[in-house]
Amino acid sequence: MSTNEHAAPVLELTDLSVSFSTRQGLIRAVDGLSLSVGRGEVHGIVGESGSGKSVAMYSLLGLTRDANASITGSVRFEGREILGSGDKAMQPIRGGEIGMIFQDPMTALTPVYTVGWQIVEQIRQHTDLTKAQAKARAIELLGEVGIPDAKRRVDSYPHEFSGGMRQRVVIAMAMSCNPKLLIADEPTTALDVTTQAQILDLMSRLRDVHNSSIVIITHDMGVIAEMADRVTVMYAGRPIEAGPELDVVRHPRHPYTWGLLGAVPRIGERSERLATIAGNVMSPLDVPVGCAFAPRCAYVMDECAARPPWSDGDHRSACWLSDTQRVALRRKES
Ligand SMILES: Nc1ncnc2c1ncn2[C@@H]1O[C@H](COP(=O)(O)OP(=O)(O)OP(=O)(O)O)[C@@H](O)[C@H]1O
Ligand SMILES: [Mg+2]
Repeated sequence: MSTNEHAAPVLELTDLSVSFSTRQGLIRAVDGLSLSVGRGEVHGIVGESGSGKSVAMYSLLGLTRDANASITGSVRFEGREILGSGDKAMQPIRGGEIGMIFQDPMTALTPVYTVGWQIVEQIRQHTDLTKAQAKARAIELLGEVGIPDAKRRVDSYPHEFSGGMRQRVVIAMAMSCNPKLLIADEPTTALDVTTQAQILDLMSRLRDVHNSSIVIITHDMGVIAEMADRVTVMYAGRPIEAGPELDVVRHPRHPYTWGLLGAVPRIGERSERLATIAGNVMSPLDVPVGCAFAPRCAYVMDECAARPPWSDGDHRSACWLSDTQRVALRRKES
């Protein structure tokens, strides 16, 4: 397992913010997200529905098309700034150097072409392989992701596969060019536990064989515990805790993360979607100016009316509780 110290980061987000001006008001979907992913490193992003995980991913890839979107901050891929660089510059990167697995596998597959055709097109866009070579590679990839009888199934249409199979096809496509970075948005949420495990294994193999970096977006702390080297916890568009996976899972600092982990029966075991934490899910239109989690936090104090700054160090959080208060509260809880 590699860590950040070894090499320049493959992906570096600095203060990424995405807001949408809507008729109802301004929605700050992503608000000051910074993170750094080293080579061969798996970075997990976790947070409940609506916390801005997918918007962050689309925006960093230049796929947020909404005319009412305002995107600021910096996205560096292999040291190069790519935020706002436009389709022409991004096309060789998307699907080539950066593999993508979107939340809904059907959005990645066109219903009117066979899966083989789609993988071949993707490979040919990013390599010099001939059609025949690309087809052979497509069959090989489908075999690798566990599609039985790949030689025949390569000519099937997406609707002829089950949901789990389609997700495998999407993963085959995302891995077809041995990406330096794989961004996977809830790659296993819709799948049964056995298929989930196989898909996570496949992604780990991509990292092990090609030293690819992975950003994995999930609701599931079990997936984080199994896959991630580092983790960022998001709440209402903001990062609220980040650090090495073991530190965050064993010594969570933010009350929101305590709740998330409370939702996992045992660390390392895969759970269903996050259990509900008391209080309503935040309306994106009225996120408080201070700590976004304050309205749902059991430990809210006067200080929480102001936005808490990031703490220092490798394991950071944005919460006004002092270390002494935190330790006392955790002891009381357990
Ligand atoms: N084009 C848009 N215009 C206005 N609001 C948007 C737009 N796209 C996303 N949002 C809002 O941004 C917020 C973050 O959405 P996002 O899809 O990133 O959540 P998520 O963390 O991926 O949730 P989930 O876990 O359900 O996939 C949501 O409140 C969503 O409604
Ligand atoms: Mg999402």
